[in-house]
Amino acid sequence: MRDFIARADKVMARVRELAAISEDGSCITRRFGTAAALEAGQKVMEWMLGAGLKVRVDNIGNIRGRWEAAGPGAKTLVIGSHVDTVVDAGQWDGPLGVLMGLDLLEELIAEGVELPFNIELIAFSDEEGVRFHTTYLGSKVVTGSFEPALLERRDGDGVSLSEVIKEMGGNIGRLSGDAIAAEEWLGYFEIHIEQGPVLYERDIPVAVVSAIAGQVRAEVVIEGVAGHAGTVPMDLRRDALAGAAEFILEVERVAGSKGLVATVGKLEVVNAASNVIPGKVICSVDVRSADGVVLSRGCEQLRLGVESIGWRRGLAVGWRVVQESSPVACDGGMGLLLGRCIAAAGYEVVELVSGAGHDAVPVSAVSPVCMLFVRCYKGISHNPQESVEKRDLVAAVEVADRFLHQLSEIWKYPR
Ligand code: HGY
Ligand code: MN
Ligand code: MN
Repeated sequence: MRDFIARADKVMARVRELAAISEDGSCITRRFGTAAALEAGQKVMEWMLGAGLKVRVDNIGNIRGRWEAAGPGAKTLVIGSHVDTVVDAGQWDGPLGVLMGLDLLEELIAEGVELPFNIELIAFSDEEGVRFHTTYLGSKVVTGSFEPALLERRDGDGVSLSEVIKEMGGNIGRLSGDAIAAEEWLGYFEIHIEQGPVLYERDIPVAVVSAIAGQVRAEVVIEGVAGHAGTVPMDLRRDALAGAAEFILEVERVAGSKGLVATVGKLEVVNAASNVIPGKVICSVDVRSADGVVLSRGCEQLRLGVESIGWRRGLAVGWRVVQESSPVACDGGMGLLLGRCIAAAGYEVVELVSGAGHDAVPVSAVSPVCMLFVRCYKGISHNPQESVEKRDLVAAVEVADRFLHQLSEIWKYPR
């Protein structure tokens, strides 16, 4: 069915259905392993079963729907994105890619296309890493790069990742068995909102992603001396929060001067009270660049920056990297083909670097990756105002549909 409008309507309706599943009735929040996350996974599973896919839930909670090739020994194209969200999220970041993939498969199956490759549609269980501060848990398991040490990570309530996996019905001893063997991968395709303003500003519905920025997430601890707010003279204070404030402005200055982006998104004042001089502060730092050298130099400058603030103010400081990923180049061949499909659908072809991370990042270690960006309103994301216009969804359905049909032609001959 080439009725791209009807298909876009179906995707939109399903995005809305998932959006109604949340830990919090007042906003959209689905963190890894919560009841809401499991309920959303159940809903995706139902849709996959309805499409006629072979469905399973793996030990990290990924929902995996498979459509086998016409012949034996075929490799696998994985289409995916994530169903977990940040806190107070938008509707589209993640679910768009899963539900677009589901539509593509429903269409290929309805047309009776004899695929020369398997397709595995995966709804990844933890891309954002909100609960355990470790991104890509789901895609790391599928690519065989899950680090067992992560199992000991604890959430804000002190519950460990391994306990949550067991509660979900997963078996931590079988996580490695959930990986798709490196030699089976044919490619990876992810459709995602841009989460930036370029397509909106240039009035273009879709874009090819050329690369994904590298990122470093660190935890910074700043310790001074807690004291009485009324009795300690200003020049005798070792105020951890004042030191953190200086550091946060340093983050902004260094990022601006180095052409990278850096964010302090979380800050905790330990034992905070209005009449106590803060003795200890813990904050996050998220640093990104599409250039690996700029990224590492920027992080080094920030690390030295917080050290010099500590030295000047008599504070003890700590910088601990909790997650890092190098910049990823998307596959040139698939990107070129995707660009041709965009042009054939009558749209201007642009390539963008993604400042946001995606499940394509861990996948790039084992497979060529290709991403299609879809415009979102003013580039707003990680925010309930995140939205996608129907006309852009129709454009994305048409482009992705063309792309899959082209792949099924080109990949008739083993790569
Ligand atoms: O933080 C990111 O880049 C992505 O949204 N997880
Ligand atoms: Mn995302
Ligand atoms: Mn996100």
